[in-house]
Amino acid sequence: MKKRVAVLTGGGDAPGLNAVIRAIVKTAIRQYDYQVIGFLDGFKGVIEKQLINLTEKNVSGILPRGGTILGTTNRDNPFHYWVNDRYEDKSDQCIATIKEHADCLIVIGGDGSLGIGYDLFQKGLPVIGCPKTIDNDLRLNNSQTFGFDTAYAYATEALDRLHSTAESHHRIVCLEVMGRNAGWIALYSGLAGGADVILIPEIPFRYEKIVDKINERLAHNKKFSLVVVAEGAMPEGGEAIYQNSSHEGSPLRLGGIADVVANQLEKITGREARSIVLGHLQRGGSPTAHDRILATLYGAAAMDLVAKEQYGYVVSLDNNQVTPVPLAEATKGIKTVAVDSDLVNTARKIGISFGD
Ligand code: F6P
Repeated sequence: MKKRVAVLTGGGDAPGLNAVIRAIVKTAIRQYDYQVIGFLDGFKGVIEKQLINLTEKNVSGILPRGGTILGTTNRDNPFHYWVNDRYEDKSDQCIATIKEHADCLIVIGGDGSLGIGYDLFQKGLPVIGCPKTIDNDLRLNNSQTFGFDTAYAYATEALDRLHSTAESHHRIVCLEVMGRNAGWIALYSGLAGGADVILIPEIPFRYEKIVDKINERLAHNKKFSLVVVAEGAMPEGGEAIYQNSSHEGSPLRLGGIADVVANQLEKITGREARSIVLGHLQRGGSPTAHDRILATLYGAAAMDLVAKEQYGYVVSLDNNQVTPVPLAEATKGIKTVAVDSDLVNTARKIGISFGD
């Protein structure tokens, strides 16, 4: 009997998910003659037994498509599963269903889904992880997650567009980008898009320092300023801002800090300030060429691990070489921006303020 490999996509979607599914299926069929099945909507599809056969036909033409043909959810943790009016541990049922249909599971996800994958692995399920997230916050050597490049390219384009309108109206414009508790998208897009101020969770800010930067620009007759605000940024001694969520089991939802910053800057400087939340536009659409390649490498590498039965690992790159990292390591906290990194120091050297 052919080896059967199950795949699911979990957590927030990211550009490149379809590219990775395609690479997994093609490598499985062409290289190893395995059968691949996909559970729909992450672990929810496992609990509800929603699955499809994945063939070369299903994955044809999906390389440039955003989203995931398998669907996803960032709720529905099988260890803490909402049933009617309470949470239940459905992990045993989940393992039994996967084992009924496949010999192993590839979890394509960020820290949440990979964490669930690791817990299932510890309960005896053969699991391989495939790292995705626009947040780039997984602890994987020095490699990026696919989705990140597309997200910050989009945020950079947004900054380019905001630049001309902010300049025409002499406004302060605050652009809020995603990234949860890590400032990668803000840092990269801020550098690439020529921001004047970048606010990231790793460096708590002070309004006076942002205003100093705005005044410095005014002294040089620059009557507008661009501020990139990571959704998890916070003032010194303050807290991150969360939105209400009406969905049971949803993770905490960050958002709203750019508006707070814009209002405060308007109040202090007396100059017009506006805020824009880029939101899910960063997650939608076609992956960049870089993300397509990364996703393809990860997908094929995940299948190679299945062939070697090297379970309990996440595929990763180290200096462009595929180097698996133990799930235990990859899911131990998140990777945040090092405040003394070359990127941060370079930004400072060219005059970008971090509000500190
Ligand atoms: O983890 C990816 C991410 O886009 C974060 O940057 C963001 O905080 C979160 O997901 C938003 O999730 P949702 O799709 O539930 O709004």
